[in-house]
Amino acid sequence: MSRFPFPHPYGWFQVAYPDELEPGGVKALRFWSTDLVLWRDEAGEYHLQDAFCPHLGAHLGVGGHVQDGAITCPFHGWRFDGSGSCLEIPYSEKINRKARLRTYPVVNRNGFILAWRHPDETVAPMWEVDEIAEHGDDGWSSYYTSEYVIRTIPQEMMENSADPAHFLFVHGTETVAEVEEYNTDGPCSVMLSKQSYVTPRGTTWGRIDVYNFGPGYSKVWFSGIVDAINIATTTPIDDESCVVRFNFMVRKFEDERMTSTVAEAFVKEINKQIVEDKPIWENKTFLPVPALADTDGPILKFRKWYAQFYAEGVPAGA
Ligand code: FES
Ligand SMILES: [Fe+2]
Repeated sequence: MSRFPFPHPYGWFQVAYPDELEPGGVKALRFWSTDLVLWRDEAGEYHLQDAFCPHLGAHLGVGGHVQDGAITCPFHGWRFDGSGSCLEIPYSEKINRKARLRTYPVVNRNGFILAWRHPDETVAPMWEVDEIAEHGDDGWSSYYTSEYVIRTIPQEMMENSADPAHFLFVHGTETVAEVEEYNTDGPCSVMLSKQSYVTPRGTTWGRIDVYNFGPGYSKVWFSGIVDAINIATTTPIDDESCVVRFNFMVRKFEDERMTSTVAEAFVKEINKQIVEDKPIWENKTFLPVPALADTDGPILKFRKWYAQFYAEGVPAGA
């Protein structure tokens, strides 16, 4: 029994980085409690499909190979194209039209391979993944990335940013961000806040603005002393674990060394925070009716917004 009373959310999720696969490459993955195969055709397009061959169930990501724009099953050589149709059964004149692979819409955007996952495979993507202007911009560094597997669900991780008070206790910050605005608009939500920092030269103000695009993809913009962006992606592996990837970029300084020093400092801080958050996340429970303080962040608003991503609905009380 899962600790969390939720099905997998629907939306766009990171499944890989573009450079994980060369054209012609094949990779076994597992997300949403589903075995998957990610492959790249010779033209460089990415395809994500259910892993098990509809013939007799071989895993296409283990020994499958790409040829002429199709993936070939290692067991009996059946070939499937990027739409999931069976193209050829090499030892039969006929094609079994019922043999189809579930295929997930995929985009290569902002330095991520993102897949649309909905429990109903006939539901087409309900929103686009916007381009992030700073990604690939000369004024910004490339990504500094880190990756973690955490025993929790994306909702719980995302709730963290709507919970400023925990920073005082879990992360030892001296001040807590003041939420100025929290707004939702369909699959997007925005939380604007300001944060004071104590520096050797006195207190200074910065901003932390969190933009969530769907259930597992956010952009956190830090500004003030330096400008930095963290694109955080979270993808469920199964009912109670997920992979989170942080992708930091900083606005470049004239001095290249300064750019990497600042970026590395951010990465170090976020690594520290994850290590601090992990035992809380991995052991806490989800309380459908929490007892909140008036000065807590917009936790209930966040949950109400997030509930839209559970196509099967959420259990009563949650
Ligand atoms: S199991 Fe894939 S071709 Fe037979
Ligand atoms: Fe945290």
